[in-house]
Amino acid sequence: MLAELFLDAARGCRDHSPLTHTLLVSAADDLVRGGITTQVMAGAEYDRKGAVPGLRFAGALHRLVLEGRVPGLAKHYPTAGGRPDLDTLWDDALTVLHEHTDDLRALVDSTAVQTNEPGRNAPLFGGLQTATHLAAGMAGRRTAFPVRLLEVGASGGLNLRPHRIAYRSGDRVYGDRSSPFVLDTGWVGCPSVDLSHNLRLVRRAGCDLNPVDVSTEDGRLHLSSFIWADQTWRWERLQAALDLARLDPVPVQQATGPEWLADQLARPERDVLTVVWHSVVWQYVSPADRAMGRAILADAAARATPMAPLALLVFEPRRAHEDGRYRFQLLLKLWPSGISLRLGSGGGHGVPFTWDPQPWN
Ligand SMILES: C[S@@+](CC[C@H](N)C(=O)[O-])C[C@H]1O[C@@H](n2cnc3c(N)ncnc32)[C@H](O)[C@@H]1O
Repeated sequence: MLAELFLDAARGCRDHSPLTHTLLVSAADDLVRGGITTQVMAGAEYDRKGAVPGLRFAGALHRLVLEGRVPGLAKHYPTAGGRPDLDTLWDDALTVLHEHTDDLRALVDSTAVQTNEPGRNAPLFGGLQTATHLAAGMAGRRTAFPVRLLEVGASGGLNLRPHRIAYRSGDRVYGDRSSPFVLDTGWVGCPSVDLSHNLRLVRRAGCDLNPVDVSTEDGRLHLSSFIWADQTWRWERLQAALDLARLDPVPVQQATGPEWLADQLARPERDVLTVVWHSVVWQYVSPADRAMGRAILADAAARATPMAPLALLVFEPRRAHEDGRYRFQLLLKLWPSGISLRLGSGGGHGVPFTWDPQPWN
């Protein structure tokens, strides 16, 4: 039942976003009583949990706020310069639900929840630095390899510019110090390689089942609307990454991971480290596509040479051996050397992150 799915989503954000939590709990109550939320959600009555109808509802309201169409509600949204008043939030939301029922229903109906988290650039940056140094060492090169970065499940492609970001860790800044995007890494420890090395990305490409075109206002609003509006730090990170994407566009191709990867990996490239990267994607990939992806990677790994090496770098939730709990882990495999490391683990959004390299079997 829809109201239960709203309450389920509300539980998920209770400790993270009082604003979204209040909206979802109130909307669930309104659904039970057959109020205006029922009309906004018409057509979504039989949605499954995975379609997260509550978050689509909250995203649709947020989108109207960001478009500047509902000032009476925007006053509660920090992303629009407001401050939440949880006692009056739902009354103001009700006004919007009544005045914009059709637009909201169309938004809920036409959008899938989609995110692209630029905080994950921080583990990516450290992982790439580690990979280029290790691969160079194995090849007997004095300098690190330049990188060809291939991202599966890239969403809006906001993690295809890891070399264009300034990474702050304590009183140190790594990466591109002139970047308008300064990312607080929240690192505990550090990758055990020279981070002052200039990471060079000679080619970047990404694919996604549903790519978001962040060169358009519609694409930027789409990703922005799914940020919980009282998580201002995530909002600022996303806006900085969107601004950077404007200066340095990288299109994301619409394709399923395996077919795209097979095409990209068909030709090994010499004097370049090819890195296949994915973050928080694996759980959405079908078993058939997972098997195909593994086979394509194994095939490319068999063709890797010291001067045309291949790396798999992933940031995904995995059950930890130690306590059986899920953690977001950064894993690295390198071919032809066979090096396999768990570089560390961290928060789901990539920050904070603890560097703690261990063998990974
Ligand atoms: C939670 S988002 C993560 C996006 C991005 N990797 C990040 O870390 O911000 C998961 C993304 O994976 C994409 N996706 C899921 N299955 C896929 C597949 N088989 N091939 C390509 N993309 C896929 C979704 O469309 C979505 O954009």
